[in-house]
Amino acid sequence: MVIVMAPGASDSDIADVVTHIETHGGQAFVSRGVMRTIVGVVGTEEVLETLDAGRLPGVAETMRITAPYKLVSAQNHAKRTTIRVGGVPIGPDTFTLIAGPCAVETAEQTLESARMAKRAGATLLRGGAYKPRTSPYAFQGLGVEGLRILAEVRDVVGLPIVTEVMDAADVEVVTEHADMLQVGTRNMQNFGLLQAVGACGKPVMLKRGLTATYEEWLMAAEYIAQRGNLDIVLCERGVRSFEPAIRNLLDVSAVPMMQRLSHLPVIVDPSHAAGRRDLVVPLARAGIAAGADGVMVDVHPHPEAALCDGAQALFGDALDELARAVSTIPALLGRTSA
Ligand code: E4P
Ligand code: PEP
Repeated sequence: MVIVMAPGASDSDIADVVTHIETHGGQAFVSRGVMRTIVGVVGTEEVLETLDAGRLPGVAETMRITAPYKLVSAQNHAKRTTIRVGGVPIGPDTFTLIAGPCAVETAEQTLESARMAKRAGATLLRGGAYKPRTSPYAFQGLGVEGLRILAEVRDVVGLPIVTEVMDAADVEVVTEHADMLQVGTRNMQNFGLLQAVGACGKPVMLKRGLTATYEEWLMAAEYIAQRGNLDIVLCERGVRSFEPAIRNLLDVSAVPMMQRLSHLPVIVDPSHAAGRRDLVVPLARAGIAAGADGVMVDVHPHPEAALCDGAQALFGDALDELARAVSTIPALLGRTSA
């Protein structure tokens, strides 16, 4: 069982809940987050039956959920959740396009990319200041300087920003600059990082691990939620396959499956799935048609000179084609543009 405390619950409300659980023979595990405090309860069926925590002051919700992931489970949620990133919704009624450079390289390149993103209909800007690279000799990102550039570009172009954090030690500085923190595929099971972003007070995008099952992905999301942060968006970005012609295999089934298993919004990243520009728009269309709540793509004004993932960055006609897809297909499914 999981007990979610109301945002204004006092220390004595929390202590009363713990006492209630312990006097009934259960064990209480308190997780104090910036946004909410969550109390996990462990006990036998008989113990859980006798608890009546829902009537105690400061308790917002009690949940008895059979799935191993509790707070992110679709059980107990009549409707899927909409989360807001700097005011921009991501959820079941809208469609959100996130676009921007794979990596922040210079102020000019980031600004130009942001303008391309906005012209294509994006309402959120992506861009990596910390880049998870296979090779330690490859461009690793500009770090804090990249965060500053992103924040300046946000002010000029007016798009809230999503950026990756790779290390729990950087969560504070990334939170100061970003509107949403991204945990990438390579860190999906970095549990210390998940707990740190769970306590950061800003929405989090959790990308699927390269070989993660749906349950592993949701258990990772549960680490974030368990620290009191339920503002999580799941991003399907392709999984490892046996086919060398594509970088990763976009798992379109993940969209409806995750929306069935969890109440959280689900988006797709066709750029990191395909790894090649010519497949990005077809895969984006497939993701939208499967019911994705948004799409995230890489754009670059000069992909041939990009310091990271140039082969998958959209520009020119391909970007126009994406703009057409996002302005037409979501509406057919009853979604408005976010
Ligand atoms: C992306 O944004 C990653 O940093 C990128 O996909 C890294 O891949 P690579 O280092 O294998 O090129
Ligand atoms: C990214 O979106 O910049 C990124 C590194 O993606 P992934 O973690 O999916 O590889």
